Amino acid sequence: MFFRIKSFICFVIKSKNKHGVHSPFVFDLVTKCLHKKISTNYNHLFLDYKKELFKNTSTINVTDYGAGSKVFSSNKRPISKIAKNAGISNKRAKLLMNLMQYYKPTSVLEIGTSLGLSTAALSISLPNSSITTLEGCKETANIAQNLFNKYQFKNTKLIIGNFKETLAKQLNKNTFDFIFFDGNHTKKATLDYFKQSLSSIHNDSFFLFDDIYWNYEMKQAWEEIKKHPSVTITVDTYQWGIVFFRKEQQKEHFTIRI
Ligand SMILES: C[S@@+](CC[C@H](N)C(=O)[O-])C[C@H]1O[C@@H](n2cnc3c(N)ncnc32)[C@H](O)[C@@H]1O
Repeated sequence: MFFRIKSFICFVIKSKNKHGVHSPFVFDLVTKCLHKKISTNYNHLFLDYKKELFKNTSTINVTDYGAGSKVFSSNKRPISKIAKNAGISNKRAKLLMNLMQYYKPTSVLEIGTSLGLSTAALSISLPNSSITTLEGCKETANIAQNLFNKYQFKNTKLIIGNFKETLAKQLNKNTFDFIFFDGNHTKKATLDYFKQSLSSIHNDSFFLFDDIYWNYEMKQAWEEIKKHPSVTITVDTYQWGIVFFRKEQQKEHFTIRI
C-alpha cells in the first residue's frame, strides 16, 4: 500500500498534461484519443456485459496462474466478485475503446482474459479486427466464452491454457498490431512475455501494460521495458504503460495525466 501511495505521489509530481507534450505523435494521442469522449453505443454494450457479470452470484473454482490475488484467500470465488476485482474498470474500458478506435489495430492479442471484460471492450470497439485472448483458468474462461457467444463477439478467439504454451504458439503463427499485457503481474513474467512478443510485431505495433505500479516488481519491469533498445516512445499514464517501436521516433518517455 505504501509503495502505491508513494509511486502515485511521484507520478503526480512528474506528470504533465497535454500542454507539456512537445512530440506531435504523443500530443495527438493525448488530445485526439485519450481525452476524447467514447461513443455511447460502445459504452452501453460494454456496461451490459459488465452488469451481467456483476449480477452473477454463482461461484467457480479458480485456478490461479498469476501473481496471486490481493483480495481472495480461497480459490472458490463468486463470479460477481471476480468481475469487480480482476476486471477492467469503466474508466479504463473507455480509454481502451478510444485507443482501439484511434489506432484501429487489425490483429490484437490479449494476454489475460479473466471473465472477458477487457476483451468485450476490444471486441466492441474493433468489430472488423481479429482478437485473440489467452486465459489459463478453464472455469473462468468458460464463463467468458459463454458470454462471447451470447453477445456474438464473432471476431474473438479465446484460447485456454498456460501462457507458457499458448503465448509462444500465437506468437509463432501471427504478427500482432497490438498486444495487451494483463496476465501475470510479476516482474519475471512481464519481462518474459514482453521479450517473447517482440518477435511478432512490426514498426507500428504497440503494447499496453496494465497496472505498471501494481507492486514494486511491476515498476521494475516497466523501467526495464522503457530501456529496451527496440522501444522508442513510452507513455506512462500511471494505470497503464503504452509502448511504441516506431523507428522514426527518437527514444523518449512521457508521463501524462489523463
Ligand atoms: C487481471 S486478469 C485479466 C483481466 C482482464 N484482462 C480484464 O480486464 O477483464 C489476469 C488473468 O490472467 C490469467 N493468468 C495469469 N497468469 C497466467 C498464466 N501463466 N497462464 C494462463 N493464464 C494466466 C489469470 O487466470 C487471470 O484470469
